[in-house]
Amino acid sequence: MARANKVVLAYSGGVDTSVCIPYLKNEWGVAEVITFAADLGQGDELEPIRQKALDSGASKSIVDDLIEPFISEFAFPAIRANGLYEGRYPLSTALARPLIARRLVEIARELGADAVAHGCTGKGNDQVRFDVAIGALAPELKVLTPAREWGMSREETIAYGERCGIPAPVSKKSPYSIDLNLLGRSIEAGPLEDPDVEPPEEVFAMTSSIEAAPVNPEIVEITFEQGNPVAINGIALDPVSVIRKANALAGNHGFGRLDMVENRVVGIKSREIYETPGLLLLIRAHQELESLTLAADVLRTKRQLESQWADLVYQGLWYGPLKEAIDAFINCSQRTVNGKVRLKLHRGNAIVVGRSSSNNSLYVPDMATYGGEDQFDHRAAEGFIYVWGLPIRLWAAAQRRNGPRG
Ligand code: ARG
Repeated sequence: MARANKVVLAYSGGVDTSVCIPYLKNEWGVAEVITFAADLGQGDELEPIRQKALDSGASKSIVDDLIEPFISEFAFPAIRANGLYEGRYPLSTALARPLIARRLVEIARELGADAVAHGCTGKGNDQVRFDVAIGALAPELKVLTPAREWGMSREETIAYGERCGIPAPVSKKSPYSIDLNLLGRSIEAGPLEDPDVEPPEEVFAMTSSIEAAPVNPEIVEITFEQGNPVAINGIALDPVSVIRKANALAGNHGFGRLDMVENRVVGIKSREIYETPGLLLLIRAHQELESLTLAADVLRTKRQLESQWADLVYQGLWYGPLKEAIDAFINCSQRTVNGKVRLKLHRGNAIVVGRSSSNNSLYVPDMATYGGEDQFDHRAAEGFIYVWGLPIRLWAAAQRRNGPRG
């Protein structure tokens, strides 16, 4: 029996998602496969991709420009959350998945499909993100996952495609598996599978090497309003342009590369190379402005929630209740995150050299200064410290009475 009648397939133009088209029809009895490819600023030419889906047997091939919502609804909240998985990876791939899933579901409903499909394999994070998001948004839709079930090797997949009229990849075979969008690139596989091997320069495309970066440093100034980056070097920019400009500036100076061993949702460690120059620059600047404009207790609580936010986005829980609750906290906290941060870009570094906020700085010069204008009441410290240190003095006295065992 057919697994579904009409399926909308998330399509990238690569071998796996192309082979999914005939596979769904021939092996699983699907009558109609409609493909959907998202433009997330990856810079691929999308017309050939649209055509390739039709040549591979799709009845309809949809390409949507989702760059603006990707940046304003997904990347900007990530900047406000300082979202860094395991303290480092700014979620450039993970952030795209809930948006692709949302549009996939919308198209399926518009066209009356009874299922959606994706070409993710069975050991990555992306399958988790798609399946969980679709399950939350559209429980009535089946999710078909041919590449998780077909058990074909890369060579067998290409051969299957060739039998169905899908040409084998013509370009010289790259050993790497790459995911990219406007926020950055993730590179895996090939020689990178040995975590002890330095990534060859050829894997990078958005960032200069340290050796090739300019000799002279460059100062960049980022302006934030309510935690959102709104201008660079004094020039107001829309969200997409902020990311493009930040990518260009940071990438030119070789800032934004990551080489890490990360813990996937499915339980394995994987070695990942990323380059996410703009996003990392903006997060660094944003963190700095928060240090000036957030109260100490809010800042500390936010830092704890940030790591939970990054975990849940990485783990595919974008449409869940914890995300909504943490976002409410973050949105409230960001009302005062207004101001400017200056950074020095130089040879792989982005070093903060200044921060200011005209209305929301909690840094009070009269309190901080060691000069004559000092308004801090030094004598008040004595009583404060008497009370602050009371419990430890009482504890230490008991220790002396009873000895070290209690
Ligand atoms: N490990 C990264 C993540 O989980 C990158 C995944 C890249 N995805 C891909 N299909 N190549 O977000």
